[in-house]
Amino acid sequence: MKRLKFLNHHPSLKWKLYHLYRFFYDSVNYFGKNSSELSPEGLLFIGSGDFRKVGEEFFSHFQNLCNLNPTDKILDIGCGQGRMAVPLTKFLESSGAYEGFDIFQSGIEWCKKNISTRYSNFNFQLVNIYNKEYNPNGKIQPSDFKFPYESNYFDFIFATSVFTHMLPEDLDNYFAEINRVLKNNGKCLLTFLLLNSQSQNSIKLKKSKIEFEYLDENYYLMYRDVPEHTIAYKEKFIKEIYEKHGLIIEEPIRYGSWSGRENFLSFQDLIISIKPV
Ligand SMILES: C[S@@+](CC[C@H](N)C(=O)[O-])C[C@H]1O[C@@H](n2cnc3c(N)ncnc32)[C@H](O)[C@@H]1O
Repeated sequence: MKRLKFLNHHPSLKWKLYHLYRFFYDSVNYFGKNSSELSPEGLLFIGSGDFRKVGEEFFSHFQNLCNLNPTDKILDIGCGQGRMAVPLTKFLESSGAYEGFDIFQSGIEWCKKNISTRYSNFNFQLVNIYNKEYNPNGKIQPSDFKFPYESNYFDFIFATSVFTHMLPEDLDNYFAEINRVLKNNGKCLLTFLLLNSQSQNSIKLKKSKIEFEYLDENYYLMYRDVPEHTIAYKEKFIKEIYEKHGLIIEEPIRYGSWSGRENFLSFQDLIISIKPV
């Protein structure tokens, strides 16, 4: 696997190989596999960890930390291959609604084909936004993108492992959009790799599970030539964005295990916030 690491510097080539791999994988699996299972196999690039287990883990965070309601209107920013949507299919009632959007074509295609056909209140949209890692040919800049939803519509918004792949000016726009489409008193759960004294020290001592090769004032990059591959942000910088966009952080921040912490809730750091009335 180490030998394949060079591909992280060549996202376009990585995607070509990925689609070739999927073509052969899907052809081999077309016969004999139970295609009714809501569990895409052979999927790459949504991060490490078991697809089902991570989905179930976050479903419990949504319920326990964000008081999710079966009739809620939910937005999943960067929904990927439906990892978080799958457990929600068993929870949301028909009066509730799930919306997910992403820039990753095969993920959205899978979700439409396997989830929306069975659960009509689950809707997925593909948007052609540029991201050097996930969509190098995208035409829309993430800093210009307007979420395709009306204002004050959602009760709950989440983005898991998405802002770890977006640059500062893009984050700024996405926070403005979150604030616009979230209802008053609505909750938001976002994950980050937060840089603070503990995590920065761990990185220095090589105790962190992620290494970074470029250190900017407000963020660290795993690969300088493909910034969107993995981005960690200074905690102070992230807190300022929340403040700027009128979202109140509900303490405590739930720090993750990525930086080598012994007490953690998840892998990445979780921030829950509320839009005040
Ligand atoms: C590590 S994956 C996580 C996917 C999903 N949230 C999950 O937890 O399974 C990162 C996702 O962010 C998406 N992404 C990157 N930039 C985006 C953007 N500007 N808008 C929406 N999604 C984006 C990628 O396409 C990819 O699906």
